[in-house]
Order: sequence, then C-alpha cells, then structure tokens
Amino acid sequence: MPFLSTTLDRVKPSPTVAVTALAEELKRGGKDVISLGAGEPDFPTPSNISEAAIAAIHAGKTKYTAPDGIAELKEAICAKFARDNGLTYTPDQVSVSGGGKQVLYNALMATLNPGDEVIIPAPYWVSYPDMVLLAGGTPIIIEGKLEDGFKITPEALKAAITPKTKWIIFNSPSNPTGAVYTPEEIKGLTDVLKREKHVWVMSDDMYEHLLYEDFDFATMAQVEPELYDRTLTVNGVSKAYAMTGWRIGYAAGPVALIKAMRKIQSQSTSNPCTISQWAAVEALNGTQDFIPSNNVIFKRRRDLIVKILNDIEGIECPMPAGAFYVYPSIKGLIGKTTKSGVKITDDETFVKCLLEDTGVAVVFGAAFGLAPAFRISYACSDETLVEAGRRIASFCEGLS
Ligand SMILES: Cc1ncc(COP(=O)(O)O)c(C=O)c1O
Repeated sequence: MPFLSTTLDRVKPSPTVAVTALAEELKRGGKDVISLGAGEPDFPTPSNISEAAIAAIHAGKTKYTAPDGIAELKEAICAKFARDNGLTYTPDQVSVSGGGKQVLYNALMATLNPGDEVIIPAPYWVSYPDMVLLAGGTPIIIEGKLEDGFKITPEALKAAITPKTKWIIFNSPSNPTGAVYTPEEIKGLTDVLKREKHVWVMSDDMYEHLLYEDFDFATMAQVEPELYDRTLTVNGVSKAYAMTGWRIGYAAGPVALIKAMRKIQSQSTSNPCTISQWAAVEALNGTQDFIPSNNVIFKRRRDLIVKILNDIEGIECPMPAGAFYVYPSIKGLIGKTTKSGVKITDDETFVKCLLEDTGVAVVFGAAFGLAPAFRISYACSDETLVEAGRRIASFCEGLS
C-alpha cells in the first residue's frame, strides 16, 4: 500500500513557485539573479490598508470568524461588485477565502465529479488544470493562438463543449499573456454559453484593475445577465492592492454553490486570516486612488519590456492590454545552440540555460499550455527590466 495518496500522481507542483525557489537558491549561493518569475506587484501595500490591519490587532479582532468571512467584508464585496461591475449580490452570495487560489479550489472541489470536464483556454494560469485534476475532473484545453492575441473564438468554445462540460474557467486580463477580452469579444463567448445551459462560468477577474488600453473591463455575468445564475465571479485583493501575502480572495455566485464552498472551507482551513479580512475591508472601501497611478507605472514598464524584447532577433512579443505579464514567442530560437553547447530544443531548455548563463529567471511557456514561449512578470523596477533585457539580448545574440 503506497504511503502517499495516488491523487498526487495526477498533479505537478506549480512551475512558477519552482522557478522562484530555484532563483532564490541561486541567489543564496552568490549568483547575481534577476527574478522575473513571481506574479506579484513590487509596490508596498498602501499604508491605509496596513493601518487598518494594525488597528484590528489593537482592537482585539484576532479571533476566529465565520468560515467564509466577516459580515463587514462581505458587504464591502457586494458594494465593490455593484460599483465596478454593475452586479447585484447579497452577502449570502459571497465567499471569502485565503486568496483567489483557495476560492477557485473550493469551487472545483465543491462541484466536480469524476468525468466532469472543465474548459480552460490556453495559455492558462498554471494552477487551473492541476486543481481540476485534484478535484477529480478532466481539463479540456482550448488554445488561444498568438495571431488571435491569445484569445479563444466562439467557434472554438462551441466545439469544446460536450454533455460532460461542467465549467469554463475564464480569465481576463490573463495570466500569463496579459491578453484582455473586450466587452464585444466576451459577448461572442456568452452568446455560445447562453445556449449551453448545463455549462457554468468561473470568471477569474483577479487582474480587473490592471488595464492599460482604452476600453472598459467587463465580466461575463455583467455582459450576459442570463448567465448570472450559473456564474461564479472570482476576484481578490492580491494584485491591484499589492496584498499577495495577506491571502484574501473572494467570489460571488448562487447561494447553493457558496454554501457548498463554505462547507469545504469549514472542514479544511476555516476562516481566512481575521486581520487580513479587516485590511481587505479597507482596501475595498477606502481610497482607490493609487490604482490609476500604479497603472501609469505598469504601462511604462510594459512598453519598455515589449520594445526591448521585440528588438531581439528570434523573439516576437505581442503588446498585452493588461495584467503585468508579457508572453514572448521564441519560435525563432528553437534549434539554436548556446555558447556552452546546449541545443535549445524547447522553451524549458531555453529558460534553464538563460538562468544558468545570465541569472535571469523567467517561466517557460509549456507550463502555461502554449509553447515555445516564456513569461516575464514586469512588476519590477525599470532598471531591473533594462538589465534583464540586456542579458536576454546578449544570451540570444550568443546563440548559433
Ligand atoms: C489568474 C490568477 N488567478 C488567481 C490567482 C490567485 O491569486 P491569490 O494570490 O489571491 O491566491 C492568481 C495569482 O497569481 C492568478 O494569476
């Protein structure tokens, strides 16, 4: 009898976490490493939010709460959905968890049975397929091609739906490509979903506020009200509020689903950190002024890194409209050989050689379901990006 659960055989560890850990290890060993792997803003958490947490500690708000969140935070979340997305929810339709990741995990664990299919557009956030597998479901991948801006078409969506389809996990702005669907493009997809009444929508809006082009963010239940009763709208404070370490994510959807998610959370982790919940109340109810000013900085960095990468022969980098990632293709470099004699057969080899030879840590595209490419997180200083770009360019120029 094996000691470890056979469930583990179905999943792999997160490659983004693995890259960050390897870069840290090399750093500790004295190597000059630039890590562009982690998906988190380099800005500090805004001080009004930190102060709210400190005040919560001093006020003794340090005990257990209801498993899926305090009433004040649920109300703040309802107000946020009404304000930003034109969506009306009541607190019993809201669930708060330890990060957006746990929200998604709870929802999949609460709904998937063996054989259930979950449609995931690629390139996808690394955790989606593995979470589906952990929950006993089957990921069905639809490829969003580079020439289509990494977006899937209504036709491809329709073709992927079977009687076994339970969910589509939809993510815009996207990690890892930064691609953003316009409201019209979302309408094209919701027109298909409207007719497929057994399919539920998990809309992962984690990067909602990180948008750099001149169109409005839209989410599925807002674009197509007919989908409201079978949509879980997922969001969180990690990215827009620079709160990755506080671990607060949330979702709103039909009461029966929210209740099922609460049951799982109550028997696993219980409530998300009480102090972080009070910080999140301030994040959602307090000033939002830093979001546009942070976006000016992110946009500048995006333009900078896209230009640097497109100036390198063999690399093609589309201009993303949101999030803080770029996803350049390295098709033009496959088959070349590094100065140390390693043949670049795929993007995993490219990324490994790049880290060893130059100290620049990025994540390979195959981990996100579309290769050969790599992902850069540009949530770091301009100087860091320029230096990383210089090293990548010099590495690529050295290939023969
Ligand atoms: C698309 C997407 N969804 C969800 C998450 C999870 O966010 P959190 O840190 O709140 O768990 C991430 C984090 O990288 C993400 O990129």
